[in-house]
Amino acid sequence: MDLSPLENEIRKRIKLAGPMPIRQFMTMCLTHPDYGYYVTRDPFGVSGDFITSPEISQVFGELIGLWAASAWHMMGQPENVRLIELGPGRGTMLIDAMRAAQVVPAFRAAIVLHLVEINPKLRERQQQMLGTIDVPAMWHETFDEVPDGPAIILANEFFDALPINQAIKQFNGWYERVVEVDASGNLAFGIASDVIPLFDQLVPPAVRDAPVGSIYEWRTDNLALAIGQRMRRELGAALIIDYGHLKSAAGDTLQAVGNHNFVSALHNPGEVDLTAHVDFEAIASTADSMGARIHGPVDQARLLRNLGIEKRAAALKTYASPEKGAEIDSACQRLLGQGRGGMGRLFKALAITHPDMKTVPGFE
Ligand SMILES: C[S@@+](CC[C@H](N)C(=O)[O-])C[C@H]1O[C@@H](n2cnc3c(N)ncnc32)[C@H](O)[C@@H]1O
Repeated sequence: MDLSPLENEIRKRIKLAGPMPIRQFMTMCLTHPDYGYYVTRDPFGVSGDFITSPEISQVFGELIGLWAASAWHMMGQPENVRLIELGPGRGTMLIDAMRAAQVVPAFRAAIVLHLVEINPKLRERQQQMLGTIDVPAMWHETFDEVPDGPAIILANEFFDALPINQAIKQFNGWYERVVEVDASGNLAFGIASDVIPLFDQLVPPAVRDAPVGSIYEWRTDNLALAIGQRMRRELGAALIIDYGHLKSAAGDTLQAVGNHNFVSALHNPGEVDLTAHVDFEAIASTADSMGARIHGPVDQARLLRNLGIEKRAAALKTYASPEKGAEIDSACQRLLGQGRGGMGRLFKALAITHPDMKTVPGFE
């Protein structure tokens, strides 16, 4: 059997240390320094694995830019503001946001960009993109590296890429879900041998009565905590948009996408994108417990409508050819759509701000 270097390494670790927790498997697949999915490629576009909202329509980034300008206004128009993007992809959202921000010149002049990105290929692409505009920018490996100061934080489809833990309920309690090598020599999901002590008391109340066999997922990266602390400490606003659920619930949402198709999460480690839905209630309650103010969560469709997507699309169509007009319509339908393939209901938005800030746009 011809295995990839990463699969060989995963198997070696399982042989040495026993079944591997899902979190460790996902971390290796996504960010292994040599073979991790997010370290070795640009995964975007028609020839890549997936497409995100900023890549679907320029309107998305423009509305986010106007949101950021309003947030800056509500923060009392600080002379310097850090505009932080977590996982900026190809930099498309930032470019569209910065173009829209030109309508508020004092805001644009106040901005220093901070891009939190681990992917060297995407960093290069972001540098090229941002080289076309005159705004100071710096790059960081992690959010903690961004210096203090008033901040606006943007994260579109970032949290779903952060590794999850999974526990599975059995008759006598919850056990960690793991990856192991099965009797036929294939990677397979399994259950750790020891029960997690007192786990029933740690899961949210809504999950406690879940039937045997249920899976509960949680993240331990502390990002929501760090954002909540930062928003409590100094003026700022964060906008998180991602696919996920409004309320914490049991369910297995670990998924793998390769070449725009769903594939097995255990097949081809490091070659496919692994993600899991975002638990917005968990993020909101963590940030709230740090003393920040929570806005939403709301569906993406509601956020974008409140921010004026229909008006902006109509304005763009005024100068567009009929073909371009049809493209704008179909992009907006995808961003707002409620049914299959639509992102309007599946995606949610949550804002976290300094406690003194009033309701930010989009969440009225
Ligand atoms: C799904 S993409 C979303 C990109 C962009 N926000 C968009 O909407 O098009 C995830 C982004 O986060 C970056 N990323 C993933 N895991 C990361 C991590 N642990 N630390 C920093 N960046 C990460 C990826 O390289 C990529 O830029």
